[in-house]
Amino acid sequence: FNVPTPINEPILGYAPGSKERELLKAAIADARSKKIDIPMYIDGKEVHTENKGKATPPHDHQHVLAEYSKGNKDHVKQAIDAALAAKANWENLAWEHRAAIFLKAADLIAGPYRYKLNAATMLGQSKNAYQAEIDSACELIDFLRFNVSYMSEIYKQQPPVSPKGSWNRVEQRPLEGFVFALTPFNFTAIAGNLPTSAAMMGNVVVWKPANTQIYSANVLMQIFREAGLPDGVINLVYVSGPEAGEVIFNHPDFAGIHFTGSTGVFQDIWKTIGNNIHKFKTYPRIVGETGGKDFILVHGSAEAESSSTAIIRGAFEYQGQKCSAASRVYVAKSIWPKVKEFMLRDLATFKMGGTEDFGNFINAVIDGNSFDKLAKYIDEAKNDKSVEIIAGGNYDKSKGYFIEPTVLVVEDPKYVTMCEELFGPVLTLHVYDDKDFDQILDVVDSTSIYALTGAVIAQDRYAIEKATHRLRNAAGNFYINDKCTGAVVGQQPFGGARGSGTNDKAGSMINLLRWVSPRTIKETF
Ligand code: SER
Repeated sequence: FNVPTPINEPILGYAPGSKERELLKAAIADARSKKIDIPMYIDGKEVHTENKGKATPPHDHQHVLAEYSKGNKDHVKQAIDAALAAKANWENLAWEHRAAIFLKAADLIAGPYRYKLNAATMLGQSKNAYQAEIDSACELIDFLRFNVSYMSEIYKQQPPVSPKGSWNRVEQRPLEGFVFALTPFNFTAIAGNLPTSAAMMGNVVVWKPANTQIYSANVLMQIFREAGLPDGVINLVYVSGPEAGEVIFNHPDFAGIHFTGSTGVFQDIWKTIGNNIHKFKTYPRIVGETGGKDFILVHGSAEAESSSTAIIRGAFEYQGQKCSAASRVYVAKSIWPKVKEFMLRDLATFKMGGTEDFGNFINAVIDGNSFDKLAKYIDEAKNDKSVEIIAGGNYDKSKGYFIEPTVLVVEDPKYVTMCEELFGPVLTLHVYDDKDFDQILDVVDSTSIYALTGAVIAQDRYAIEKATHRLRNAAGNFYINDKCTGAVVGQQPFGGARGSGTNDKAGSMINLLRWVSPRTIKETF
């Protein structure tokens, strides 16, 4: 069978007065007007508990959008049992039938669920309409359609050579056991991709989303069910990390983890899996995308206005909470005055507030913990004479977790906010002497433990060549003359190495191959 050739989902613009804007506004109003009750989903059944958590918009934290049922270790056990019970039927289903379910899910998001899913992301995760359209709807539609296409290529691979008298073949079996998907708040698309990419390859899944993404995870689950996903294939639970970990990482059938989240949590998980390795039937697959300290390096030959645009968009879209967001920038002294002028001009036009007003470019950061952490870094910078705050620096959490887009200019290229991951709208920038370009390349490469995304902006081809070569291991996604965010599925497979993860490129054949365990069969005639 041939699957449809995927093309990237066209992005809706939500222009004032457009029908799509009205539909999205109606979906937001509808979501705000009711407080829903969100269950867990185990074996296709809705599971409610007495122990409730609250989903609130980060930009309006007194408004309760939903109450969700919190689970415990028993629910994790039930989810594993349901997954294992569903396994035989699911893995024996011909791949094109699995493909059909995920293609239908993509169509449902592209069609009837688009506004509901975007509204849920906008309210639950404080992401503006344009970013929600790109990062949740379109990216997830693309993940599903492109992955189905890569999946078909895997199953249709040419068999190995078979000399006369024998027939050699390779069978792509799913993993023996269940897969645990641990998903982040910042991209609804990633939350949808991690369980589905493993499930697509015939695996059964226990899915635990970040607490701050449960509101949109609930919509995703409705979509997967409506697309025909059989009971038990993906089980969605809301439990604490330690409770989930205690059950999952002690279970003999734990076969793999598909993770996006912090480096610290991933390293702890890796250690636990290592310590428990004798308990598992098989070596679990460990696939994770973790932190980043993504950079933009502006050479003296760069064009100033487009450099400024790349910096601002890279740093402040979705309040700097993309794993790919620019958080350390290096600008050549000769071009800095112009770049600064453009940056300040554009930053002055940014409006900050709730996502319901489409004019607000900046919304809230995800929660109180993130707000407090960012405020602390800003306060430290205010008290440090070697740091100049050229934009922002104010914050207020009375209604929502609002932090102004803040730009710190530092003398020391190894200043603390140049090195540590902040995950918010605080950008640190260092101005270097043009003649020190070679040294600054070394600094860029050695300043952080991460290697997710990075960009060089230059007109000089020798500078581009030098940066591309010298920074070969500094970023899994490297951009020349562009911002370092916005990888598109099917165009720039996404992921990084070093402290940023296992670089198994989300939305690629490399990733799907982690979810199969091939068996080679030789038959002699
Ligand atoms: N596409 C996102 C980015 O590059 C990651 O999923 O920002």
